[in-house]
Amino acid sequence: MNPESNKPVNKSVKDGPVLRDHVFDGIEEFDQKLPNWWLFTFYIAIAFYVGYWVIYYSSDLLQSPAEKINAQMELINDAKKKELAAMLDELDNKVLIQWSENADIVAEGEAVFKTTCAACHGADLNGTAIGRSLMDDEWSHGGEPMDLFNLVLNGSPADAEGFNGQKMTAWGENLGPEKCAKAVAYVLSKNPPKSEE
Ligand code: HEC
Repeated sequence: MNPESNKPVNKSVKDGPVLRDHVFDGIEEFDQKLPNWWLFTFYIAIAFYVGYWVIYYSSDLLQSPAEKINAQMELINDAKKKELAAMLDELDNKVLIQWSENADIVAEGEAVFKTTCAACHGADLNGTAIGRSLMDDEWSHGGEPMDLFNLVLNGSPADAEGFNGQKMTAWGENLGPEKCAKAVAYVLSKNPPKSEE
């Protein structure tokens, strides 16, 4: 065999197909220079990769998508914490009872209740197999308005027995404190605290 035949031949396609010497089972192998347009996109892709890697991963020039999301999440969490702190400053049993007598707030609370709470507590608040009745004046974790608010906000305490094995989810994360408080105001409007409590 000619030892020269293993060297790549730098001929272009225009000169006709360049073939290597060997043939296996009738299969021949091309051996020619790739078209320039192809090589051009290939080199651009390599340059792009290097640039991207430097900009996003090896320098502080730009934030990567993950860093952007983390920064946004931090802002959201800060805002949530502030909202909760402001809410807790403002809220007590008396405010919740006042809210339960305010038709606008009760209407907002009813909307939250219908979409989020009714599935387990029933549209009439009488409970289902999954969630306790909110009309029976028996409260598993305290019956003061703020007890109800804290239960809705933070969920059942870790050591709670729950109801039929089910515990209350912490809704604060999902709904935010304001919607939780309004949902409780709606419950209180349907089942006002009895004065002897
Ligand atoms: C996935 C079902 C489910 C959903 C949805 C749900 N709850 Fe509950 N809830 C429960 C369970 C189970 C309990 C009993 C928890 C326990 O005893 O520890 C409970 C308990 C309560 C209690 C105390 C009841 C009592 O008799 O002591 C209140 C008040 C309450 N939920 C309000 C709400 C509000 C307001 C919402 C909507 C924001 C809501 N729940 C959504 C399942 C649910």
